[in-house]
Amino acid sequence: MTEPDLPPQAPQVSTQDKIDDLRARYHEAVVAAEEKAREKQHAKGKLTARERIELLVDPGSFVELDEYVRHRTTAFGMDRSRPYGDSVVTGVGTIHGRTVAVYAQDFTTFGGSLGEVAGDKIIKVMEFALRGGMPVIGILDSGGARIQEGVVALGKYGEIFRLNTAASGVIPQISIIMGPAAGGAVYSPALTDFVIMVDKTSQMFVTGPDVIKTVTGEDVGMEELGGAHTHNTRSGVAHYLAEDEDDAIDYARTLLGYLPDNNMAEVPAYESDFSWETTDPDRTLNTIVPDSPNQPYDIHEVISHIVDRGDFLEVQPLFAPNIVIGFGRVEGRTVGIIANQPSQMAGTLNIDAGEKAARFVRFCDAFSVPIVTLVDVPGYLPGTDQEWTGVIRRGAKLLYAYAEATVPLVTVILRKAYGGAYIVMGSKQLGADINLAWPTAEIAVMGGQGAVNILYRGELKRAEEAGEDIATVRARLASEYTYNVASPFLAAERGELDGIIEPAQTRVSVAKALRALRGKRAELPPKKHGNIPL
Ligand code: HXC
Repeated sequence: MTEPDLPPQAPQVSTQDKIDDLRARYHEAVVAAEEKAREKQHAKGKLTARERIELLVDPGSFVELDEYVRHRTTAFGMDRSRPYGDSVVTGVGTIHGRTVAVYAQDFTTFGGSLGEVAGDKIIKVMEFALRGGMPVIGILDSGGARIQEGVVALGKYGEIFRLNTAASGVIPQISIIMGPAAGGAVYSPALTDFVIMVDKTSQMFVTGPDVIKTVTGEDVGMEELGGAHTHNTRSGVAHYLAEDEDDAIDYARTLLGYLPDNNMAEVPAYESDFSWETTDPDRTLNTIVPDSPNQPYDIHEVISHIVDRGDFLEVQPLFAPNIVIGFGRVEGRTVGIIANQPSQMAGTLNIDAGEKAARFVRFCDAFSVPIVTLVDVPGYLPGTDQEWTGVIRRGAKLLYAYAEATVPLVTVILRKAYGGAYIVMGSKQLGADINLAWPTAEIAVMGGQGAVNILYRGELKRAEEAGEDIATVRARLASEYTYNVASPFLAAERGELDGIIEPAQTRVSVAKALRALRGKRAELPPKKHGNIPL
Protein backbone atom coordinates (compact mmCIF):
# COMPACT_ATOMS: atom_id res chain seq x y z
CA MET A 1 0.00 0.00 0.00
CA THR A 2 1.31 3.38 -0.95
CA GLU A 3 0.67 6.58 0.95
CA PRO A 4 -1.76 8.92 -0.81
CA ASP A 5 -0.23 12.16 -2.06
CA LEU A 6 -0.64 14.76 0.64
CA PRO A 7 -1.55 18.23 -0.42
CA PRO A 8 1.42 20.56 -0.26
CA GLN A 9 1.58 22.21 3.08
CA ALA A 10 0.15 25.74 3.12
CA PRO A 11 2.93 28.15 4.00
CA GLN A 12 2.83 29.50 7.51
CA VAL A 13 1.75 33.13 7.10
CA SER A 14 1.52 35.51 10.00
CA THR A 15 -1.05 38.26 10.35
CA GLN A 16 1.69 40.79 9.75
CA ASP A 17 2.62 38.96 6.52
CA LYS A 18 -1.00 39.26 5.40
CA ILE A 19 -1.09 42.96 6.17
CA ASP A 20 2.19 43.42 4.31
CA ASP A 21 0.76 41.48 1.37
CA LEU A 22 -2.32 43.77 1.35
CA ARG A 23 -0.04 46.79 1.40
CA ALA A 24 2.02 45.45 -1.49
CA ARG A 25 -1.05 44.67 -3.54
CA TYR A 26 -2.60 48.06 -2.77
CA HIS A 27 0.66 49.68 -3.82
CA GLU A 28 0.61 47.81 -7.11
CA ALA A 29 -3.13 48.35 -7.72
CA VAL A 30 -3.32 52.00 -6.80
CA VAL A 31 -0.05 53.77 -6.03
CA ALA A 32 2.19 52.35 -8.79
CA ALA A 33 -0.68 52.28 -11.32
CA GLU A 34 -1.41 55.90 -10.51
CA GLU A 35 2.22 56.92 -11.04
CA LYS A 36 2.21 55.33 -14.50
CA ALA A 37 -1.15 56.86 -15.36
CA ARG A 38 0.03 60.29 -14.23
CA GLU A 39 3.01 60.17 -16.56
CA LYS A 40 0.85 59.32 -19.57
CA GLN A 41 -2.04 61.69 -18.89
CA HIS A 42 0.03 64.68 -17.77
CA ALA A 43 2.03 64.45 -20.99
CA LYS A 44 -1.26 65.13 -22.80
CA GLY A 45 -2.24 67.95 -20.44
CA LYS A 46 -4.89 65.76 -18.80
CA LEU A 47 -5.45 64.58 -15.26
CA THR A 48 -5.71 60.93 -14.25
CA ALA A 49 -9.01 59.32 -13.32
CA ARG A 50 -8.14 59.44 -9.61
CA GLU A 51 -6.91 63.03 -9.77
CA ARG A 52 -10.19 64.03 -11.41
CA ILE A 53 -12.18 62.31 -8.68
CA GLU A 54 -10.05 63.90 -5.96
CA LEU A 55 -10.77 67.34 -7.44
CA LEU A 56 -14.48 66.58 -7.72
CA VAL A 57 -15.18 65.33 -4.21
CA ASP A 58 -14.48 66.94 -0.85
CA PRO A 59 -10.80 66.46 0.14
CA GLY A 60 -10.12 63.04 1.60
CA SER A 61 -13.72 61.86 1.24
CA PHE A 62 -13.26 59.38 -1.61
CA VAL A 63 -13.61 55.70 -0.85
CA GLU A 64 -12.57 53.59 -3.81
CA LEU A 65 -14.38 50.36 -4.61
CA ASP A 66 -13.24 47.35 -6.61
CA GLU A 67 -9.62 48.37 -6.98
CA TYR A 68 -8.61 44.69 -7.14
CA VAL A 69 -10.94 43.75 -9.99
CA ARG A 70 -9.14 42.25 -13.02
CA HIS A 71 -10.38 41.15 -16.41
CA ARG A 72 -10.53 37.46 -17.37
CA THR A 73 -10.19 37.84 -21.14
CA THR A 74 -7.69 35.62 -22.88
CA ALA A 75 -8.32 36.55 -26.53
CA PHE A 76 -5.70 38.59 -28.41
CA GLY A 77 -3.12 37.88 -25.72
CA MET A 78 -5.07 39.91 -23.20
CA ASP A 79 -4.10 37.47 -20.44
CA ARG A 80 -0.57 38.88 -20.59
CA SER A 81 -1.83 42.14 -19.13
CA ARG A 82 -4.33 42.06 -16.27
CA PRO A 83 -3.99 45.40 -14.48
CA TYR A 84 -5.77 45.81 -11.16
CA GLY A 85 -8.89 47.95 -11.27
CA ASP A 86 -9.18 47.54 -15.05
CA SER A 87 -10.04 50.72 -16.98
CA VAL A 88 -12.27 52.57 -14.55
CA VAL A 89 -12.00 53.94 -11.02
CA THR A 90 -15.24 53.79 -9.03
CA GLY A 91 -16.36 54.71 -5.53
CA VAL A 92 -18.21 57.14 -3.32
CA GLY A 93 -17.28 60.51 -1.86
CA THR A 94 -18.95 63.68 -0.70
CA ILE A 95 -19.58 67.00 -2.42
CA HIS A 96 -20.46 69.86 -0.05
CA GLY A 97 -20.77 67.12 2.56
CA ARG A 98 -23.42 65.12 0.63
CA THR A 99 -22.67 61.62 -0.60
CA VAL A 100 -22.31 60.99 -4.33
CA ALA A 101 -21.31 57.97 -6.39
CA VAL A 102 -18.57 58.47 -8.95
CA TYR A 103 -16.87 56.61 -11.74
CA ALA A 104 -13.98 57.86 -13.87
CA GLN A 105 -12.68 56.01 -16.90
CA ASP A 106 -8.93 55.57 -17.03
CA PHE A 107 -7.71 56.15 -20.58
CA THR A 108 -4.24 54.84 -19.69
CA THR A 109 -5.62 51.32 -19.27
CA PHE A 110 -6.77 49.82 -22.58
CA GLY A 111 -7.79 53.31 -23.72
CA GLY A 112 -10.45 53.48 -21.01
CA SER A 113 -12.37 50.94 -23.10
CA LEU A 114 -15.28 49.13 -21.54
CA GLY A 115 -15.16 45.36 -21.27
CA GLU A 116 -16.94 42.96 -18.97
CA VAL A 117 -15.35 43.90 -15.65
CA ALA A 118 -15.10 47.65 -16.27
CA GLY A 119 -18.77 47.50 -17.18
CA ASP A 120 -19.56 45.54 -14.03
CA LYS A 121 -17.74 48.12 -11.89
CA ILE A 122 -19.81 50.94 -13.36
CA ILE A 123 -23.02 48.95 -13.02
CA LYS A 124 -22.21 48.16 -9.39
CA VAL A 125 -21.59 51.78 -8.42
CA MET A 126 -24.70 52.94 -10.28
CA GLU A 127 -26.82 50.31 -8.53
CA PHE A 128 -25.30 51.43 -5.24
CA ALA A 129 -26.26 55.04 -6.05
CA LEU A 130 -29.82 54.01 -6.91
CA ARG A 131 -30.19 51.98 -3.72
CA GLY A 132 -28.73 54.75 -1.58
CA GLY A 133 -30.59 57.55 -3.36
CA MET A 134 -27.50 59.59 -4.23
CA PRO A 135 -26.45 61.43 -7.40
CA VAL A 136 -24.07 59.65 -9.76
CA ILE A 137 -21.34 61.42 -11.69
CA GLY A 138 -19.52 59.74 -14.56
CA ILE A 139 -16.22 61.07 -15.89
CA LEU A 140 -15.79 59.72 -19.41
CA ASP A 141 -12.51 59.26 -21.26
CA SER A 142 -12.74 56.11 -23.33
CA GLY A 143 -12.28 54.43 -26.70
CA GLY A 144 -15.70 52.79 -26.23
CA ALA A 145 -16.55 49.11 -26.26
CA ARG A 146 -13.42 46.97 -25.72
CA ILE A 147 -12.77 45.56 -29.15
CA GLN A 148 -11.16 42.36 -27.85
CA GLU A 149 -14.27 41.49 -25.81
CA GLY A 150 -16.80 41.84 -28.61
CA VAL A 151 -20.41 41.12 -27.74
CA VAL A 152 -19.68 40.96 -24.00
CA ALA A 153 -18.56 44.59 -24.09
CA LEU A 154 -21.61 45.61 -26.10
CA GLY A 155 -23.85 43.84 -23.63
CA LYS A 156 -22.38 45.78 -20.73
CA TYR A 157 -23.21 49.02 -22.51
CA GLY A 158 -26.76 47.76 -22.89
CA GLU A 159 -26.95 47.13 -19.14
CA ILE A 160 -25.56 50.60 -18.40
CA PHE A 161 -28.10 52.26 -20.72
CA ARG A 162 -30.89 50.38 -18.97
CA LEU A 163 -29.63 51.51 -15.58
CA ASN A 164 -29.25 55.11 -16.80
CA THR A 165 -32.90 54.92 -17.83
CA ALA A 166 -34.01 53.32 -14.57
CA ALA A 167 -32.14 56.03 -12.64
CA SER A 168 -33.61 58.83 -14.77
CA GLY A 169 -35.91 60.90 -12.58
CA VAL A 170 -34.81 58.96 -9.47
CA ILE A 171 -31.27 60.25 -8.86
CA PRO A 172 -29.53 63.14 -10.62
CA GLN A 173 -27.03 61.87 -13.20
CA ILE A 174 -24.17 64.04 -14.45
CA SER A 175 -21.65 63.18 -17.18
CA ILE A 176 -18.34 64.99 -17.51
CA ILE A 177 -16.65 64.25 -20.84
CA MET A 178 -12.88 64.55 -20.51
CA GLY A 179 -11.66 62.72 -23.61
CA PRO A 180 -13.21 60.68 -26.37
CA ALA A 181 -16.70 59.19 -26.12
CA ALA A 182 -17.17 57.33 -29.36
CA GLY A 183 -19.75 55.09 -30.99
CA GLY A 184 -22.77 53.84 -29.09
CA ALA A 185 -20.92 54.73 -25.87
CA VAL A 186 -22.18 58.31 -26.27
CA TYR A 187 -25.66 57.15 -25.37
CA SER A 188 -24.88 56.67 -21.70
CA PRO A 189 -24.12 60.40 -21.21
CA ALA A 190 -27.00 61.24 -23.53
CA LEU A 191 -29.35 59.46 -21.12
CA THR A 192 -28.07 61.44 -18.15
CA ASP A 193 -29.42 64.81 -16.99
CA PHE A 194 -26.41 67.04 -17.57
CA VAL A 195 -23.44 66.69 -19.92
CA ILE A 196 -20.36 68.82 -19.30
CA MET A 197 -17.65 68.92 -22.00
CA VAL A 198 -14.12 70.28 -21.84
CA ASP A 199 -13.02 72.60 -24.63
CA LYS A 200 -10.56 71.03 -27.12
CA THR A 201 -10.02 67.79 -25.18
CA SER A 202 -13.39 66.06 -25.31
CA GLN A 203 -15.24 64.64 -28.28
CA MET A 204 -18.51 62.81 -28.70
CA PHE A 205 -19.68 61.18 -31.90
CA VAL A 206 -21.59 58.12 -33.03
CA THR A 207 -19.49 57.66 -36.16
CA GLY A 208 -16.03 59.17 -36.41
CA PRO A 209 -14.46 61.30 -39.16
CA ASP A 210 -12.97 58.28 -41.02
CA VAL A 211 -16.25 56.43 -41.34
CA ILE A 212 -18.05 59.62 -42.34
CA LYS A 213 -15.46 60.24 -45.06
CA THR A 214 -15.88 56.70 -46.39
CA VAL A 215 -19.67 56.67 -46.33
CA THR A 216 -20.68 60.21 -47.21
CA GLY A 217 -17.47 61.71 -48.56
CA GLU A 218 -17.68 64.56 -46.03
CA ASP A 219 -14.38 65.86 -44.73
CA VAL A 220 -14.69 66.84 -41.10
CA GLY A 221 -12.22 66.97 -38.24
CA MET A 222 -12.81 65.37 -34.85
CA GLU A 223 -13.19 68.73 -33.08
CA GLU A 224 -15.61 70.21 -35.59
CA LEU A 225 -17.59 66.98 -35.69
CA GLY A 226 -17.99 66.33 -32.01
CA GLY A 227 -15.95 68.76 -29.92
CA ALA A 228 -17.23 70.65 -26.90
CA HIS A 229 -18.02 73.75 -28.93
CA THR A 230 -20.09 71.83 -31.46
CA HIS A 231 -22.16 70.04 -28.84
CA ASN A 232 -22.71 73.18 -26.78
CA THR A 233 -23.72 75.46 -29.64
CA ARG A 234 -25.14 73.28 -32.43
CA SER A 235 -26.42 69.91 -31.29
CA GLY A 236 -27.55 70.77 -27.76
CA VAL A 237 -26.04 67.49 -26.49
CA ALA A 238 -23.91 69.33 -23.92
CA HIS A 239 -25.05 71.65 -21.16
CA TYR A 240 -21.81 73.41 -20.32
CA LEU A 241 -18.63 74.26 -22.21
CA ALA A 242 -15.79 74.10 -19.71
CA GLU A 243 -12.55 75.97 -20.39
CA ASP A 244 -10.53 73.18 -18.85
CA GLU A 245 -10.88 70.19 -16.52
CA ASP A 246 -10.89 72.35 -13.37
CA ASP A 247 -13.71 74.48 -14.78
CA ALA A 248 -15.72 71.36 -15.67
CA ILE A 249 -15.39 70.02 -12.14
CA ASP A 250 -16.24 73.40 -10.61
CA TYR A 251 -19.44 73.52 -12.65
CA ALA A 252 -20.41 69.98 -11.61
CA ARG A 253 -19.85 70.79 -7.94
CA THR A 254 -21.83 74.01 -8.17
CA LEU A 255 -24.63 72.28 -10.05
CA LEU A 256 -24.89 69.56 -7.41
CA GLY A 257 -25.30 72.24 -4.76
CA TYR A 258 -28.69 73.05 -6.33
CA LEU A 259 -29.94 69.49 -6.71
CA PRO A 260 -31.65 67.19 -4.23
CA ASP A 261 -30.09 63.76 -3.62
CA ASN A 262 -33.00 61.93 -5.20
CA ASN A 263 -36.64 62.25 -6.23
CA MET A 264 -37.92 61.63 -2.68
CA ALA A 265 -35.66 64.26 -1.11
CA GLU A 266 -36.34 67.97 -0.80
CA VAL A 267 -34.17 70.51 -2.57
CA PRO A 268 -31.22 71.63 -0.45
CA ALA A 269 -32.00 74.63 1.74
CA TYR A 270 -29.29 77.13 2.64
CA GLU A 271 -29.18 80.01 5.13
CA SER A 272 -30.50 83.11 3.45
CA ASP A 273 -30.57 86.79 4.32
CA PHE A 274 -33.73 87.29 2.27
CA SER A 275 -35.23 90.77 2.62
CA TRP A 276 -39.03 91.08 2.58
CA GLU A 277 -38.76 94.84 1.99
CA THR A 278 -38.52 96.28 -1.51
CA THR A 279 -34.87 97.20 -1.93
CA ASP A 280 -33.08 99.71 -4.17
CA PRO A 281 -31.86 96.94 -6.50
CA ASP A 282 -35.50 95.73 -6.74
CA ARG A 283 -36.54 99.21 -7.87
CA THR A 284 -34.16 99.11 -10.84
CA LEU A 285 -36.55 96.59 -12.42
CA ASN A 286 -39.10 99.39 -12.82
CA THR A 287 -36.97 100.82 -15.63
CA ILE A 288 -35.84 97.63 -17.33
CA VAL A 289 -38.59 97.34 -19.95
CA PRO A 290 -37.92 99.94 -22.67
CA ASP A 291 -40.81 102.20 -23.74
CA SER A 292 -40.51 100.91 -27.31
CA PRO A 293 -41.95 97.38 -27.56
CA ASN A 294 -39.35 96.37 -30.13
CA GLN A 295 -36.34 97.31 -28.06
CA PRO A 296 -34.63 94.36 -26.40
CA TYR A 297 -33.21 94.04 -22.90
CA ASP A 298 -31.21 91.29 -21.25
CA ILE A 299 -33.38 88.85 -19.29
CA HIS A 300 -30.37 87.95 -17.12
CA GLU A 301 -30.83 91.37 -15.50
CA VAL A 302 -34.31 90.37 -14.37
CA ILE A 303 -33.25 86.90 -13.24
CA SER A 304 -30.41 88.25 -11.14
CA HIS A 305 -32.90 90.52 -9.36
CA ILE A 306 -35.10 87.56 -8.41
CA VAL A 307 -32.61 84.93 -7.21
CA ASP A 308 -30.71 85.19 -3.91
CA ARG A 309 -27.57 87.35 -4.22
CA GLY A 310 -28.03 87.37 -7.99
CA ASP A 311 -26.47 83.89 -8.21
CA PHE A 312 -27.77 82.11 -11.28
CA LEU A 313 -26.27 78.91 -12.66
CA GLU A 314 -27.19 78.89 -16.32
CA VAL A 315 -27.63 75.56 -18.08
CA GLN A 316 -26.98 75.26 -21.84
CA PRO A 317 -26.18 78.98 -22.20
CA LEU A 318 -24.80 78.58 -25.72
CA PHE A 319 -27.60 76.52 -27.22
CA ALA A 320 -30.88 78.20 -28.21
CA PRO A 321 -29.96 81.40 -26.33
CA ASN A 322 -33.43 82.77 -27.14
CA ILE A 323 -34.56 80.89 -24.04
CA VAL A 324 -32.62 80.97 -20.78
CA ILE A 325 -32.75 78.11 -18.28
CA GLY A 326 -30.91 77.48 -15.06
CA PHE A 327 -30.95 77.28 -11.30
CA GLY A 328 -31.06 79.92 -8.62
CA ARG A 329 -32.27 80.10 -5.04
CA VAL A 330 -35.13 81.98 -3.47
CA GLU A 331 -35.06 82.20 0.33
CA GLY A 332 -32.15 79.74 0.17
CA ARG A 333 -34.10 77.04 -1.73
CA THR A 334 -33.48 75.92 -5.29
CA VAL A 335 -35.73 77.12 -8.08
CA GLY A 336 -35.55 76.42 -11.80
CA ILE A 337 -35.84 79.51 -13.98
CA ILE A 338 -37.15 79.45 -17.54
CA ALA A 339 -37.17 82.79 -19.34
CA ASN A 340 -37.51 84.09 -22.87
CA GLN A 341 -34.53 86.21 -23.90
CA PRO A 342 -35.67 89.34 -25.80
CA SER A 343 -32.09 90.13 -26.83
CA GLN A 344 -31.82 86.91 -28.91
CA MET A 345 -34.13 86.43 -31.90
CA ALA A 346 -36.53 88.81 -30.08
CA GLY A 347 -37.19 85.97 -27.62
CA THR A 348 -39.17 83.92 -30.15
CA LEU A 349 -39.68 80.24 -29.51
CA ASN A 350 -38.21 77.77 -32.00
CA ILE A 351 -37.67 74.03 -31.98
CA ASP A 352 -34.36 74.17 -30.12
CA ALA A 353 -35.69 76.55 -27.47
CA GLY A 354 -38.78 74.40 -26.97
CA GLU A 355 -36.80 71.19 -26.54
CA LYS A 356 -34.22 72.83 -24.29
CA ALA A 357 -36.91 74.21 -21.98
CA ALA A 358 -39.04 71.05 -22.08
CA ARG A 359 -36.20 68.84 -20.87
CA PHE A 360 -35.46 71.33 -18.10
CA VAL A 361 -39.11 71.46 -16.98
CA ARG A 362 -39.12 67.66 -16.79
CA PHE A 363 -35.89 67.60 -14.79
CA CYS A 364 -37.24 70.15 -12.30
CA ASP A 365 -40.55 68.32 -12.05
CA ALA A 366 -38.89 64.95 -11.46
CA PHE A 367 -36.74 66.38 -8.66
CA SER A 368 -39.25 68.66 -6.89
CA VAL A 369 -37.61 71.88 -8.03
CA PRO A 370 -40.24 74.68 -8.27
CA ILE A 371 -40.27 76.50 -11.60
CA VAL A 372 -40.37 80.26 -12.11
CA THR A 373 -41.21 81.24 -15.69
CA LEU A 374 -40.49 84.74 -17.00
CA VAL A 375 -42.39 85.52 -20.17
CA ASP A 376 -41.55 87.96 -22.95
CA VAL A 377 -42.29 86.08 -26.14
CA PRO A 378 -43.62 87.49 -29.42
CA GLY A 379 -44.57 84.01 -30.68
CA TYR A 380 -43.10 81.06 -32.53
CA LEU A 381 -40.36 81.67 -35.08
CA PRO A 382 -42.01 81.57 -38.51
CA GLY A 383 -40.49 79.77 -41.51
CA THR A 384 -40.47 76.64 -43.62
CA ASP A 385 -37.33 75.44 -41.91
CA GLN A 386 -39.15 75.32 -38.57
CA GLU A 387 -42.34 73.81 -40.00
CA TRP A 388 -40.53 71.13 -41.97
CA THR A 389 -38.19 70.15 -39.16
CA GLY A 390 -41.15 69.53 -36.93
CA VAL A 391 -42.02 72.60 -34.88
CA ILE A 392 -45.46 71.07 -34.38
CA ARG A 393 -44.25 67.73 -33.05
CA ARG A 394 -41.15 69.04 -31.30
CA GLY A 395 -42.75 72.26 -30.05
CA ALA A 396 -45.46 70.17 -28.39
CA LYS A 397 -42.88 68.84 -25.92
CA LEU A 398 -42.83 72.06 -23.93
CA LEU A 399 -46.63 72.09 -23.68
CA TYR A 400 -46.56 68.49 -22.57
CA ALA A 401 -43.83 69.12 -20.02
CA TYR A 402 -45.59 72.08 -18.39
CA ALA A 403 -49.01 70.41 -18.51
CA GLU A 404 -47.61 67.32 -16.79
CA ALA A 405 -45.58 69.18 -14.15
CA THR A 406 -46.84 68.95 -10.58
CA VAL A 407 -44.16 71.07 -8.86
CA PRO A 408 -45.03 74.65 -7.85
CA LEU A 409 -45.25 76.79 -10.99
CA VAL A 410 -45.02 80.57 -10.75
CA THR A 411 -45.20 82.65 -13.93
CA VAL A 412 -44.52 86.34 -14.43
CA ILE A 413 -45.40 87.99 -17.74
CA LEU A 414 -43.01 90.88 -18.25
CA ARG A 415 -43.99 92.10 -21.68
CA LYS A 416 -45.15 90.14 -24.74
CA ALA A 417 -47.18 86.95 -24.37
CA TYR A 418 -48.70 86.26 -27.74
CA GLY A 419 -50.67 83.39 -29.18
CA GLY A 420 -49.64 79.79 -28.59
CA ALA A 421 -46.43 81.04 -27.01
CA TYR A 422 -48.54 82.67 -24.24
CA ILE A 423 -50.16 79.34 -23.51
CA VAL A 424 -46.96 77.30 -23.59
CA MET A 425 -44.90 79.55 -21.31
CA GLY A 426 -46.41 78.41 -18.03
CA SER A 427 -49.94 79.75 -18.50
CA LYS A 428 -52.68 79.25 -15.93
CA GLN A 429 -54.50 76.88 -18.25
CA LEU A 430 -51.49 74.56 -18.45
CA GLY A 431 -51.48 74.29 -14.68
CA ALA A 432 -49.44 77.17 -13.29
CA ASP A 433 -50.31 77.98 -9.68
CA ILE A 434 -49.61 81.70 -9.53
CA ASN A 435 -49.60 83.91 -12.62
CA LEU A 436 -48.51 87.51 -12.27
CA ALA A 437 -47.88 90.25 -14.81
CA TRP A 438 -46.10 93.53 -14.96
CA PRO A 439 -48.19 96.51 -16.17
CA THR A 440 -46.04 96.37 -19.33
CA ALA A 441 -47.52 92.94 -20.22
CA GLU A 442 -49.24 92.50 -23.57
CA ILE A 443 -51.36 89.36 -23.77
CA ALA A 444 -53.13 88.71 -27.06
CA VAL A 445 -53.59 86.36 -29.97
CA MET A 446 -50.91 88.26 -31.84
CA GLY A 447 -48.83 91.45 -31.68
CA GLY A 448 -50.25 94.86 -32.61
CA GLN A 449 -48.66 95.08 -36.07
CA GLY A 450 -49.90 91.66 -37.15
CA ALA A 451 -53.39 92.24 -35.75
CA VAL A 452 -53.73 95.63 -37.45
CA ASN A 453 -52.83 94.11 -40.83
CA ILE A 454 -55.74 91.70 -40.49
CA LEU A 455 -58.32 93.71 -38.54
CA TYR A 456 -57.84 97.09 -40.22
CA ARG A 457 -57.05 96.05 -43.80
CA GLY A 458 -59.85 98.24 -45.18
CA GLU A 459 -58.97 101.23 -43.02
CA LEU A 460 -55.32 101.06 -44.02
CA LYS A 461 -56.32 100.91 -47.71
CA ARG A 462 -58.59 103.96 -47.32
CA ALA A 463 -55.83 105.87 -45.50
CA GLU A 464 -53.40 105.02 -48.30
CA GLU A 465 -55.87 106.23 -50.95
CA ALA A 466 -56.39 109.43 -48.95
CA GLY A 467 -52.61 109.99 -49.11
CA GLU A 468 -52.06 109.61 -45.37
CA ASP A 469 -48.74 108.40 -44.00
CA ILE A 470 -49.41 104.68 -43.72
CA ALA A 471 -46.67 104.00 -41.16
CA THR A 472 -48.14 106.60 -38.79
CA VAL A 473 -51.67 105.24 -39.18
CA ARG A 474 -50.49 101.67 -38.64
CA ALA A 475 -48.51 102.63 -35.53
CA ARG A 476 -51.53 104.48 -34.09
CA LEU A 477 -53.87 101.54 -34.71
CA ALA A 478 -51.34 99.07 -33.33
CA SER A 479 -50.89 101.02 -30.15
CA GLU A 480 -54.68 101.39 -29.74
CA TYR A 481 -55.03 97.63 -30.23
CA THR A 482 -52.30 96.88 -27.71
CA TYR A 483 -53.84 99.25 -25.17
CA ASN A 484 -57.42 98.00 -25.62
CA VAL A 485 -57.00 94.31 -26.39
CA ALA A 486 -53.63 93.23 -25.01
CA SER A 487 -53.84 95.00 -21.66
CA PRO A 488 -53.00 92.74 -18.72
CA PHE A 489 -55.98 94.20 -16.86
CA LEU A 490 -58.30 92.35 -19.26
CA ALA A 491 -56.62 89.08 -18.30
CA ALA A 492 -56.71 90.07 -14.63
CA GLU A 493 -60.42 90.89 -14.90
CA ARG A 494 -61.05 87.32 -16.01
CA GLY A 495 -58.84 85.80 -13.33
CA GLU A 496 -56.33 84.52 -15.90
CA LEU A 497 -53.80 86.46 -13.91
CA ASP A 498 -53.69 86.37 -10.12
CA GLY A 499 -52.22 89.81 -9.85
CA ILE A 500 -50.49 92.69 -11.58
CA ILE A 501 -47.39 93.87 -9.81
CA GLU A 502 -44.83 96.60 -10.14
CA PRO A 503 -41.60 95.13 -11.50
CA ALA A 504 -39.93 96.23 -8.26
CA GLN A 505 -42.21 93.84 -6.33
CA THR A 506 -41.19 90.78 -8.38
CA ARG A 507 -38.58 89.28 -6.07
CA VAL A 508 -40.79 89.49 -2.99
CA SER A 509 -43.95 88.41 -4.85
CA VAL A 510 -42.22 85.35 -6.31
CA ALA A 511 -40.84 84.44 -2.90
CA LYS A 512 -44.30 84.76 -1.30
CA ALA A 513 -45.83 82.60 -4.03
CA LEU A 514 -43.16 79.91 -3.63
CA ARG A 515 -43.55 79.97 0.15
CA ALA A 516 -47.32 79.56 -0.17
CA LEU A 517 -46.81 76.62 -2.52
CA ARG A 518 -44.26 74.72 -0.41
CA GLY A 519 -46.84 72.16 0.59
CA LYS A 520 -48.25 71.69 -2.90
CA ARG A 521 -49.54 68.19 -3.57
CA ALA A 522 -50.78 67.37 -7.05
CA GLU A 523 -51.27 64.05 -8.74
CA LEU A 524 -51.82 62.92 -12.29
CA PRO A 525 -54.20 60.10 -13.19
CA PRO A 526 -52.50 56.70 -12.78
CA LYS A 527 -50.91 55.41 -15.98
CA LYS A 528 -47.91 53.38 -17.04
CA HIS A 529 -46.42 56.44 -18.69
CA GLY A 530 -47.56 59.13 -21.06
CA ASN A 531 -46.58 59.41 -24.67
CA ILE A 532 -44.67 62.70 -24.98
CA PRO A 533 -44.28 63.69 -28.64
CA LEU A 534 -40.64 62.78 -29.42
C1 HXC B 1 -9.67 48.30 -26.92
C2 HXC B 1 -8.73 50.35 -27.24
C3 HXC B 1 -9.97 50.86 -27.69
C4 HXC B 1 -11.07 49.98 -27.73
C5 HXC B 1 -8.54 52.46 -27.74
N1 HXC B 1 -7.88 51.36 -27.30
N2 HXC B 1 -9.80 52.16 -28.00
N3 HXC B 1 -8.59 49.08 -26.87
N4 HXC B 1 -10.88 48.70 -27.32
N5 HXC B 1 -12.26 50.38 -28.10
C6 HXC B 1 -6.49 51.27 -26.93
C7 HXC B 1 -5.54 51.41 -28.09
O1 HXC B 1 -5.37 50.18 -28.72
C8 HXC B 1 -4.29 51.90 -27.41
O2 HXC B 1 -3.67 50.80 -26.81
C9 HXC B 1 -4.82 52.77 -26.29
O3 HXC B 1 -6.17 52.36 -26.10
C10 HXC B 1 -4.81 54.24 -26.64
O4 HXC B 1 -5.46 54.40 -27.90
P1 HXC B 1 -4.81 55.30 -29.05
O5 HXC B 1 -5.52 54.97 -30.30
O6 HXC B 1 -3.33 55.16 -29.05
O7 HXC B 1 -5.18 56.76 -28.52
P2 HXC B 1 -5.57 58.04 -29.36
O8 HXC B 1 -4.63 58.19 -30.52
O9 HXC B 1 -5.66 59.13 -28.37
O10 HXC B 1 -7.01 57.73 -29.98
C11 HXC B 1 -8.11 57.57 -29.12
C12 HXC B 1 -9.30 57.01 -29.93
C13 HXC B 1 -8.89 55.76 -30.71
C14 HXC B 1 -9.81 58.10 -30.89
C15 HXC B 1 -10.42 56.71 -28.94
O11 HXC B 1 -8.22 54.85 -29.82
C16 HXC B 1 -10.03 55.04 -31.33
O12 HXC B 1 -10.54 55.45 -32.40
N6 HXC B 1 -10.47 53.95 -30.70
C17 HXC B 1 -11.55 53.17 -31.19
C18 HXC B 1 -12.83 53.91 -31.01
C19 HXC B 1 -14.02 53.09 -31.42
O13 HXC B 1 -14.35 53.00 -32.59
N7 HXC B 1 -14.58 52.38 -30.43
C20 HXC B 1 -15.70 51.54 -30.63
C21 HXC B 1 -16.88 52.45 -30.62
S1 HXC B 1 -18.34 51.54 -30.78
P3 HXC B 1 -2.07 50.68 -26.63
O14 HXC B 1 -1.89 49.32 -26.07
O15 HXC B 1 -1.49 50.90 -27.98
O16 HXC B 1 -1.71 51.78 -25.66
C22 HXC B 1 -18.81 51.36 -29.23
C23 HXC B 1 -20.05 50.59 -29.14
C24 HXC B 1 -20.81 50.85 -27.89
O17 HXC B 1 -18.25 51.77 -28.30
C25 HXC B 1 -22.00 49.99 -27.98
C26 HXC B 1 -23.17 50.51 -27.33
C27 HXC B 1 -24.38 49.70 -27.61
